[in-house]
Amino acid sequence: MIVTKIQISNFRNFKRKVFKFSPKTTVIVGPNASGKTNILECLFLLSTGKSFRARVEEEMISYPEEIARVKGEFLRPKTSLEVVLTRGEITVGEDPEKTERVPRKRLLINGLAKRLIDFAGNFRVVVFGPQDLELVIESPSRRRNFLDTVLSQVDREYRRGLLSYEKGLRQRNRLLFRIRENLPAGRQGASRSQLLFWDKLLIKNGDYISQKREEFIDFINTTSPMNEQYFSLDYDKSAISEARLEQYAKEEVAAATTLVGPHRDDFCFRLKKGKRARDLSRYGSRGEQRMSVLWLKLAELAYIEEKSEEKPTLLLDDIFSELDHEHRKVVMKAVGGQQTIITTADPHFIEDIEKVEKIKL
Ligand SMILES: Nc1ncnc2c1ncn2[C@@H]1O[C@H](COP(=O)(O)OP(=O)(O)O)[C@@H](O)[C@H]1O
Ligand SMILES: [Mg+2]
Repeated sequence: MIVTKIQISNFRNFKRKVFKFSPKTTVIVGPNASGKTNILECLFLLSTGKSFRARVEEEMISYPEEIARVKGEFLRPKTSLEVVLTRGEITVGEDPEKTERVPRKRLLINGLAKRLIDFAGNFRVVVFGPQDLELVIESPSRRRNFLDTVLSQVDREYRRGLLSYEKGLRQRNRLLFRIRENLPAGRQGASRSQLLFWDKLLIKNGDYISQKREEFIDFINTTSPMNEQYFSLDYDKSAISEARLEQYAKEEVAAATTLVGPHRDDFCFRLKKGKRARDLSRYGSRGEQRMSVLWLKLAELAYIEEKSEEKPTLLLDDIFSELDHEHRKVVMKAVGGQQTIITTADPHFIEDIEKVEKIKL
């Protein structure tokens, strides 16, 4: 799908706004803190049902309003997607003390309420901003989050499996804690046999998650969008199985946490030079680390296109000011290959881009 228009109200710094987008390239120009990233956050929200930066979703609601709305119009096929956010209650009538409890988030497709797994993945995006440039040296959780964001967009079963895995993991960890502390859990007390239920659930969903992550990493390694460099990813998989859980059973109770499974996965970036493939987090220059992220982002575009048989919309958040000439050229090549929305504080970076629509903040 491509986005043609969004209407937003009470979203961060925007009271009420309508923005229109070209099916090709749209450039959003504005000074710092004018809301450029907020617009991309709206688009990401319509894509995934989540924010790429809010720690608490309530953050996105303009202070001190009670309800934020983001509604997008899409083509191919003609669809409307809408996200409504609240702080969990709204005042009714004139009396500010009189409140009613309401859901914190509602997701709608063509006006009909949907679950997250059905809402996400209709409008597909690849976001690329300054924070991504550090992916090579960031924490493993950031890299896992990257894998989940990509795979969740193209695979409904992955979205379902991931939600179920995360829920199961929290329950299992809670139970491990109760076992360690000898606390009663339910009528039967916290026993090792109760763990079996969660073990099965985690193994079933965890297997699917690792398998899909593995497939994605294989795709990335065999589809090189930049042939002059030899980057590759190494999947550091934390497999989950009955045997592995058994092996760590004692330690898990002592730590009161699940020690194996995809929530412990990681991957590293390598650059092949001669016979050796060096780990870029340790031996890469800053330039090489950044180039490998560009390589990964281009591969992400290709992967989503291959899996969904449709080009995702590329969202570039203030990226050109962060890059040197060589890196900029790589990103520029990707602009124009699909619907692209670019934000910048400095219009001179995008002079060479054929811009169809321009938004000035
Ligand atoms: N919940 C909120 N209510 C009101 N304003 C907000 C809220 N969250 C963020 N903002 C404002 O949004 C602006 C930042 O927008 P941002 O999209 O990051 O700007 P840019 O990317 O153009 O630099 C800041 O002025 C910030 O105060
Ligand atoms: Mg910004």
